[in-house]
Amino acid sequence: MSQKNIVFIGFMGSGKTLVSKELEKILGRKRVSTDDLIEAKEGKSITDIFAEHGEEYFRACEKQAVEEVSGKSDLIIDCGGGIVLDPSNIDKLRQNGIIIHLSITADSVLENTRGTTNRPLLNVPDPRAKVQELLDQRRPLYETADYSVVSDNKTIPQLAKDILEVIENV
Ligand code: S3P
Repeated sequence: MSQKNIVFIGFMGSGKTLVSKELEKILGRKRVSTDDLIEAKEGKSITDIFAEHGEEYFRACEKQAVEEVSGKSDLIIDCGGGIVLDPSNIDKLRQNGIIIHLSITADSVLENTRGTTNRPLLNVPDPRAKVQELLDQRRPLYETADYSVVSDNKTIPQLAKDILEVIENV
């Protein structure tokens, strides 16, 4: 019997990618990432897509990636942090998926993303102000998830364990 997708949403640096890879191993389910799908289709990095075509174009690619994965089943889906900006993305993903939000504070985001340069929205002179602004803007959107799991200050195995508890009770 096919199972609903497990869909991770949450801010950049909340651990979606690492924990979805951990769960891929534990559950033996295939993992897909909307960012990876976009990069493969466009043949360039997210950074280059933003630089060459802008955010609006990237969001259209993201919407297409959602169309592609939301009709499938048995997947673990790692969504880019801005997927919630278009609520229809979440509606589609929910049709055959459980939406799990990994919640995180601005301090932890800054800590987890320090030294990385692959997130164009954070490549700004004042990343702290940007993270806070985007977190404030997106909080109500992330809160539309079916479940929320706190990601701060947890190792990936601990976070995976907490997520498994949520999934087991679904
Ligand atoms: C974005 C998050 C990124 C990536 C892009 C935009 C966002 O993915 O999709 O840089 O708007 O939050 P991660 O959340 O996997 O870093």
